[in-house]
Amino acid sequence: MKIAVIGTGYVGLVTGVALSEIGHTVTCIDVDPRKIEELNQGIPTIYEPGLGDMMLKNQQRNRLRFTDQHRAGLEGAEAVYLAVGTPQRADGSANLQYVEQAALDVAEHIQKSVIVVIKSTVPVGTNQRIKRLMMQHTRPGVSIKIASNPEFLREGSAIHDTFHGDRIIIGTEDYETAHVLEEINAPFGIPVVKTDLFSSEMIKYASNAFLATKISFINEIANLCEKLGADVEEVSKGMGLDHRIGNAFLKAGIGYGGSCFPKDTNALVQLAGNHHHDFNLLKSVIEVNNHQQCLLIEKMVARFGSLHDKRIAVLGLAFKPNTDDLRESPALVMIPKLVELGADVVCYDPIAANQGARWISEPVAYTKNVAESLSGADCAVIITDWPDIKRMNPETYVRLMRTPIVFDGRNCYPIPVARKATIEYYSIGRPDVVPEISR
Ligand code: UDX
Repeated sequence: MKIAVIGTGYVGLVTGVALSEIGHTVTCIDVDPRKIEELNQGIPTIYEPGLGDMMLKNQQRNRLRFTDQHRAGLEGAEAVYLAVGTPQRADGSANLQYVEQAALDVAEHIQKSVIVVIKSTVPVGTNQRIKRLMMQHTRPGVSIKIASNPEFLREGSAIHDTFHGDRIIIGTEDYETAHVLEEINAPFGIPVVKTDLFSSEMIKYASNAFLATKISFINEIANLCEKLGADVEEVSKGMGLDHRIGNAFLKAGIGYGGSCFPKDTNALVQLAGNHHHDFNLLKSVIEVNNHQQCLLIEKMVARFGSLHDKRIAVLGLAFKPNTDDLRESPALVMIPKLVELGADVVCYDPIAANQGARWISEPVAYTKNVAESLSGADCAVIITDWPDIKRMNPETYVRLMRTPIVFDGRNCYPIPVARKATIEYYSIGRPDVVPEISR
């Protein structure tokens, strides 16, 4: 099938590449000519394992191309995917200006009737509204069918998730459109759930809100474990074995970040509020997460009194491993706070360090490896559980730091390992490790 994808951001690029991989002829359209130029040279504009090779392969097969020209890009397309951002507005609601603009661009340029597939995460009711908007701007005789097809991709494993997802959700207003979407997706071999537009839009928000709830729940349990002397890792393991609970998303830490959970939870609270529904549970989930992101600072201040002139090695900047994305990363809450408290901050991240300057305006130093950032440090704080940080022998802290004090926001090391290494170790929801010598 001939498909056009509007937007070459995270979702659009992965979607376009994956649809070409399963045999469709795909044109990705973006208004940013700089991005298009790079993509046409075979250079992926985002960091995502496995994406670059798949993209290049399908470009060489002539099944995937990129353009900034709507008319040419939409020519002959039977389905047009809208995959542009829906960033958060100041009040927490989703900003739909890019979706609306993309829809208008498509309406203006299409020459024949098409199915418009909305991938972007949009509030319930938006698909229907976008269809009406487009119908007002298409040329006579051209009609629009609309489909909601939310994505459930995790950054860092988006290619894997595309080919091994648990379900594909297809929301439509009519059976024929649902059938076409089912055919487009058939080669993925993933179970398809066909539903109405509103429910499809809600499935996306409800799924992200539920996963965020699981994380905040286990983080609250972790905070309680610290007070009661239990170990949250043991608690998660024990809970997760109950298949009604499941073991996924029960990893306690310094809170969730990224481009979806914070934005989508806020948007759902707003959406509920607009309909006079006070979503108290989700408000608490957000509140718990905001506090969780500051937890390590509280622990550091409790340990040191003042952080003034303390050299602090920040290990990891990305909101999770295998991505260079800093959006809503706990690092963006912690680093400004550390600098404000007078600390001398030295950051390390194997992939995201080059994004640091874009997101962090405070004066901090960046190092190329862990050893350099640990050298002479008064304490280390782990924000991202990158494999090289997890795999590192904790004795390295003793060898390189002025004082081997580690605040671990991701529970990277088993407690017995930290004890054996004789580091002073504060993690999340587990007993503190304080060697005799530091007492
Ligand atoms: C998420 C959803 O998983 C995906 O389905 C949706 O389409 C987009 O949002 P993503 O943001 O890429 O994906 O990352 P994910 O792996 O879900 O992690 C999100 C955040 O939660 C990270 O900051 C991660 O560190 C945190 N997390 C996750 C935990 O703190 N504990 C967990 O057990 C799981």
